[in-house]
Amino acid sequence: MISVVIPTYKEADSIQEMVQRTAAALGGSDEEYELIVVDDNSGDGTAELAEALSPGFPVRVLRRAGRQGLATAVVDGWGIARGDLLAVIDADLQHPPEILTSLAKSIRDSNADLAIASRYIEGGGTSDWELSRRLISWGATHLAASVLPLKLSAVSDPMSGMFMVRAAAIADAKLSPLGYKILLEVLAKGRIENVVEVPYQFEERTRGSSKLGLCQYGEYLAHLAHLSWSTGQIGAWVEYSLVGLTGAAVDLGLVYCGAERAGWMAIWIVPAAAQMALVWNFLWNQQVTFPRRTPASMAKGKSLARFLLYERICLPGAVLNVCLTLLLARGGMRLMVAAACGVVADGVFNLLFKVPAIWRVWGLRRSASCQ
Ligand code: GDD
Ligand code: MN
Repeated sequence: MISVVIPTYKEADSIQEMVQRTAAALGGSDEEYELIVVDDNSGDGTAELAEALSPGFPVRVLRRAGRQGLATAVVDGWGIARGDLLAVIDADLQHPPEILTSLAKSIRDSNADLAIASRYIEGGGTSDWELSRRLISWGATHLAASVLPLKLSAVSDPMSGMFMVRAAAIADAKLSPLGYKILLEVLAKGRIENVVEVPYQFEERTRGSSKLGLCQYGEYLAHLAHLSWSTGQIGAWVEYSLVGLTGAAVDLGLVYCGAERAGWMAIWIVPAAAQMALVWNFLWNQQVTFPRRTPASMAKGKSLARFLLYERICLPGAVLNVCLTLLLARGGMRLMVAAACGVVADGVFNLLFKVPAIWRVWGLRRSASCQ
């Protein structure tokens, strides 16, 4: 049985159509289903309109006392659910309910633990968002993937508000989300081995208004910080950062010995040092940071292939490092100061753009996608 939770806060304009469309979609499949509307005392009739549809539709309404957040509404809804598959979908029709049947089919067919409706795989998308909105969405997704790389490596849209998870995969997890992003909580704390993604188009809202405000952005950052702590990812991060710092010291030490002591030309020693530091970082991450944290099957073997991949991902940062160092030095800056600028630029560049890809080098799972 599929239990679909529909969190609502002031969605009187769309809740009835939402329930009807969802029922039509799931009623056409051979799955049993129930709908659970979790309303936070909207005061605009949302809960009453949903209740009015029962018993014509298999819908129950869980009323909470006041606005307590989207993600906890979902957890409370799942708490009274009877299905072996638990789903969530927004009430405002921005998530097409028909996708629920594809999620159910793919999770069953591929025996996955989690099926995510994704905007960011082929066939998915958003309507014409302006640049600022795209940037915020990209930034939020990238930030999550950078803070929790080991947990989110398998998914293209960890921000998605529409997905389906096996009840068994989260039965032992203590879910205590903050804000909007219930999927982050599930990915971080659930027993999720296999993920499947289904593309969908995120529609524009035509009724009611978005409930996403500044407060939710703040909650998002607090939620990420909390998850990095409670999952122990912060420990991996500390080791990874220490390796990076020693790599920077190796790079600068080699430039110093080569250029300042041995008198080699900067044009040779600067790239050589950057390359040596890259090898150093790889070896330490390979020996120390990742083996304890990735599945044993992944941690062993394939070192050369892994190194080549690592090299390819880190190359742009290293090139930036070398070019900046040489340019600044040619402009009259002391070589060691220029080299320090290059190393910092390399580190910041990788931190901002490459972290999820770098961590994925250590054999983390990818999801399958179903069209
Ligand atoms: N019960 C309850 N309590 N429901 C809430 C609350 C709350 O505090 N806040 C929001 N909701 C409900 C809304 O009524 C709506 O049904 C749904 O949660 C999503 O809220 P929106 O404000 O419309 O969110 P959005 O459109 O900006 O973003 C949604 O889609 C994104 C893409 O999938 C969310 O689901 C995001 O988490 C998601 O990234
Ligand atoms: Mn919405």
